Amino acid sequence: MYFIANWKMFGGVNSLNSLDKVIKFIKSFKKKKLIQIIYCPPNTLINLMSRKFRNININVGSQNCHEQKDYGPYTGSVNCRMLKNAGAKYVIIGHSEVRQSGESNDLINKKIQTAIKSGLKVIFCVGETIQQKRKKLTKKVLSKQIKLGLNNVKNKKNIIIAYEPVWSIGTGIIPKPLELLKTINFLKKKLKYNKILYGGSVNSKNINQLKSIYNLDGYLIGGASQDPKKFIDIIKKTYI
Ligand code: 13P
Repeated sequence: MYFIANWKMFGGVNSLNSLDKVIKFIKSFKKKKLIQIIYCPPNTLINLMSRKFRNININVGSQNCHEQKDYGPYTGSVNCRMLKNAGAKYVIIGHSEVRQSGESNDLINKKIQTAIKSGLKVIFCVGETIQQKRKKLTKKVLSKQIKLGLNNVKNKKNIIIAYEPVWSIGTGIIPKPLELLKTINFLKKKLKYNKILYGGSVNSKNINQLKSIYNLDGYLIGGASQDPKKFIDIIKKTYI
């Protein structure tokens, strides 16, 4: 199971102290071989964080990347080569918060191609808005995001899919179990060999409900991942 922490635009150097609790927990966790934890902090913390996790099986990722593989005159941008150099092994691409600021499926596709070529593993986010859900367009939207996002991507082995319904992110609302089960099954049929995660308001309370979705391969966790106790609780409860 994957437990991916997306810190979004939160956290400074002092926030790294809170990870001591997570490191201590993992060292003594009996099921540690069954899980993969990935922290995606703001880029400013990638290097320090990857040093902190040097002796433990926790990986670090970025939350976005530039689509160009090489260095270039793109003020404010960071490419995969730089992220890798800083210690990242993963990169989140296509998060709805980035899509909302104008990122197209075509740009997402370019970023995915570049990330794979650069040797980063990709956490590819897909999900429908509330309006699309109300119009029963979920499957259509997901199919399109996947088709265009993965267009001409030959090597899909290093891609993890994160299904994040936009209406669930930061709202405290999660999909009904049967609905989620069906959507994950739909994605599994499309992408037989990829891990499929769920993201959107995952917390230490609703994890008991979410873990009943047997075909999920893990969670992409926003708000709750910033608090080590809540994050550890989510992992523990997944295995109770
Ligand atoms: P929340 O867990 O805060 O709803 O965020 C989910 C998310 O966007 C993870 O990428």
